[in-house]
Amino acid sequence: MGDHSKRAERIMQRIDELASISEDEGRITRTYGTRPFIQGRNKVEQWMKEAGLDTRIDNIGNVRGRLDSNNAKAQTFVIASHIDTVVNAGRFDGPMGVLIGLDLAAQLGMSGATLPYNIEVIGFCDEEGCRFHTTYLGSKALIGKLESSLLDAKDATGMELSHVITQMGGDINKLNEDLIEAADWEGYFEIHIEQGPVLFERDIPVGVVSAIAGQYRAGLIFNGEAGHAGTVPMDMRKDALAGAAEFVMAVENFASKNGNGLVATVGKLHIINSASNVIPGEVICSLDVRHANEMILSQCYDSLQKLAKDICEKRGLTLDWNLVQHTKPVTCDEKLTRNLKNAISDSGYEVVELVSGAGHDAVPISSVSPVVMLFVRCYKGISHNPLENVEMKDLIATLKVSDNFIKTLIAK
Ligand code: GLV
Ligand code: MN
Ligand code: MN
Repeated sequence: MGDHSKRAERIMQRIDELASISEDEGRITRTYGTRPFIQGRNKVEQWMKEAGLDTRIDNIGNVRGRLDSNNAKAQTFVIASHIDTVVNAGRFDGPMGVLIGLDLAAQLGMSGATLPYNIEVIGFCDEEGCRFHTTYLGSKALIGKLESSLLDAKDATGMELSHVITQMGGDINKLNEDLIEAADWEGYFEIHIEQGPVLFERDIPVGVVSAIAGQYRAGLIFNGEAGHAGTVPMDMRKDALAGAAEFVMAVENFASKNGNGLVATVGKLHIINSASNVIPGEVICSLDVRHANEMILSQCYDSLQKLAKDICEKRGLTLDWNLVQHTKPVTCDEKLTRNLKNAISDSGYEVVELVSGAGHDAVPISSVSPVVMLFVRCYKGISHNPLENVEMKDLIATLKVSDNFIKTLIAK
């Protein structure tokens, strides 16, 4: 299946080219629906066309390329990841999986192999959920599970998701025309950087994902009373930021003491009408809570909500708590995972199983299809950070493993 080094070089060049398309000068930011997002997506579509894939941009904004089987009744096997990024992102989170998927499909196309399934490569449009705080917009739309209430979600400027879809050329009334029906799924394969340090520490290029942690995302508003910073005595204040700050510390303390794999993060904090001489009256913040066990996850989420309520009661604040997203933990498919493990050992690498703390588009897809995931070592496990890095030798290892995996797939 071609020269692995040459293929890896081309993938790396494309990763760099995509990384140069950004909302921000000198750093990588490509959030859903923005002009750079559209530019990046068009670039991926052009590469798909060059690889001989039959391409389309669907209504939510995913970029898709297909190799059709000669069998008109064939199901579809999807290889995908995402092309949106966090703010000030690294180069690999998402795009690497899409561009390797594209390379694998291109190799298959060139080989002239008989395909027992249609192969579809997808660059999902919104896995990070940075713009609307809710994630998996593209993969949920693909399976017909995008909650219609989400269309009213607003970004930081007040723009609605439905408007952004229209602006990008999509039609909110035609989202269902794009879906791959549950019965048509043969499987789903996602390649992604590990975003953790295990492979780096153990000096192993790739690992297989056994499960993906469940996740809650909530949006909180602490409401107090804005006032004059020079005149209101300390014991008469209703400082919304002090309440939010106490909550931030309580979240860290709670998750650290829990010690059973729970992680909880307040990643966004916004002081409304902030000024150095004004007591903060309203603070908006986010909460992200994750665990691989659904029962523990739900209990912890409830406990954190109670903590926030108690803090507000003590401080005379009111609290708005809005659940934005809840995704349950996912177990990867046993048979596909066994094939991937065999592909790893056949390629000469040790087989390591990892649980993913990060969310992936494989999560929503798992409700309609068997899913399998391959993790690739990244430098010190650093991710969501410009220091994110994957070495060429690990890209080559990933291609060897993926080729072996695809061989078993089409040998059906
Ligand atoms: C995506 O990277 C997530 O896990 O939030
Ligand atoms: Mn990702
Ligand atoms: Mn990410």
